[in-house]
Amino acid sequence: MKKLRSQEWYGRQDRDGFLYRSWMKNQGWPHDLFDGRPVIGICNTWSELTPCNAHFRELAEFVKRGVWEAGGFPLEFPVMSLGETQLRPTAMFFRNLASMDVEESIRGNPMDGVVLLMGCDKTTPSLLMGAASCDLPTIGLSGGPMLNGKFHGKDLGSGTGLWQLTDEVRAGKMKLEEFFEAESCMHRSKGHCMTMGTASTMASMVEALGMSLPGNAAIPAVDARRNTLAQLTGRRIVQMVKDDLCMSKILTREAFENAILANAAIGGSTNAVIHLIAIAGRIRVPLNLTDFDQLGSSLPCLVNIQPSGKYLMEDFFYAGGLPVVLRELGEANLLRRDALTVNGQPIWKNVAEALCWNRDVIHQFAEPFKPNAGIAVLRGNLAPDGAVIKPSAASPQLLQHRGRAVVFETIEQFHSRINDEALDIDESCVMVLKNCGPRGYPGMAEVGNMMLPPKLLRKGVTDMVRISDARMSGTAYGTVVLHVCPEAAMGGPLALVHSGDMITLDVPNRLLQLEVNEETLNCRRSEWRPAPIPERGWQKLYAEHVMQADKGADLDFLVGRSGARVARDSH
Ligand code: FES
Repeated sequence: MKKLRSQEWYGRQDRDGFLYRSWMKNQGWPHDLFDGRPVIGICNTWSELTPCNAHFRELAEFVKRGVWEAGGFPLEFPVMSLGETQLRPTAMFFRNLASMDVEESIRGNPMDGVVLLMGCDKTTPSLLMGAASCDLPTIGLSGGPMLNGKFHGKDLGSGTGLWQLTDEVRAGKMKLEEFFEAESCMHRSKGHCMTMGTASTMASMVEALGMSLPGNAAIPAVDARRNTLAQLTGRRIVQMVKDDLCMSKILTREAFENAILANAAIGGSTNAVIHLIAIAGRIRVPLNLTDFDQLGSSLPCLVNIQPSGKYLMEDFFYAGGLPVVLRELGEANLLRRDALTVNGQPIWKNVAEALCWNRDVIHQFAEPFKPNAGIAVLRGNLAPDGAVIKPSAASPQLLQHRGRAVVFETIEQFHSRINDEALDIDESCVMVLKNCGPRGYPGMAEVGNMMLPPKLLRKGVTDMVRISDARMSGTAYGTVVLHVCPEAAMGGPLALVHSGDMITLDVPNRLLQLEVNEETLNCRRSEWRPAPIPERGWQKLYAEHVMQADKGADLDFLVGRSGARVARDSH
């Protein structure tokens, strides 16, 4: 084994070696722990303000068990944690900031390998992005989904159930008391959202990328096997250090292609598009929107889980979890079988024998849950650089639709007008929301799945075409066009749409077209003015450097990796 990085700190006989070791010894570590054994950083996103990750200190203890068993020296460290439901204006606004914390914490500290503890939506991409820019041996461990929500005798899914119940209250079909009762029924155990929202999608992406041990995506947070996986993860990272199995050997183009395929097959979140492009950018693998359409859009959805289907992650686990999906993709000759994974095996070796225990939850490739369900990338004069839609969560009859635009200039204008009975809107209209993109909101909030007007809900309307530069929660559903690029706040064509304009959505032909002539658009363009850049702090840095959604919404100066070497001592 080559001399480990941590020995640049601990393997010294001089003043600096004293300094690096002695202060650590105030925790009671004996001298022999600094003898050259692998030092494993456990990058923890525990926070009581990130409820989905609130069990991570316990989980870290199981990782440590494994690290000790394998002869390593585990050291847990905190990084910025992003609680999707608590952070304003949106957790996504801080994804890149958290990734910088992760990157610099790894690079600046004496560790040889890293375990990433990830759960709530943005904690997964921020950790993968930051770690990729250092490129040490790294392994992912997700916190696991919550148990199924249960309400009035039925399953109730995170997020998805909330959108449904909200509509019932707004349509006058549910009392507020019942609505409040549902709060504690929906989220009744530790873990992250148990629908195939962004957290479960990204946990699946971690597994499909080969960045975790098999089974990572679906084991519920409270299942003892989650702790077992944590212990095995701790054991494994020590060997990865010995083998110098760094991230760039796993995160290859083939790995990202497997992630795109898997995302389609699980009916995964549209957020995965942005996050995967951003992670690929850090590790320097070329990946763009077209890859998602070409590789994934014609694939069937195999997994019958909310929001695309009816089951939840607990059911997915009992049915066999992601290995079954990957096996189906492999047998259909789609999976890049040789892609290396963190256990040192090609992905196919990990999943070739995976068994399915419930074909209503995980369908066979030949008899899919939904055909042609991968994320589709739309272009046209309304989205020259692309927009995305998740057909598996949309209404089939709306995938080709022409309608009159009803425009909301800001999220505030939307909230103030949507409940107005006098709003000039019917179910054939196209709802357009502006200024909710990366720069506009800021942080590209999950507001693209706009609530429908109550007067239409009362009529029994359950879906309409909605278009915005925002994202939507992975738990959300509907015929929702998202991530329109360039965003309105950057002067993209979306900024030029007026109420009354006609818009054509044609998903089979990948078209998003504003039916306004060029002369009129030029006239409107000349009147458009950008909002001022914030004056200080993270908001200013973010606004000046954030890229558009088609580039992963990373900061332009964070793309790429700098490795983990730091030449200078601290004193
Ligand atoms: Fe944390 Fe959904 S809110 S995963």
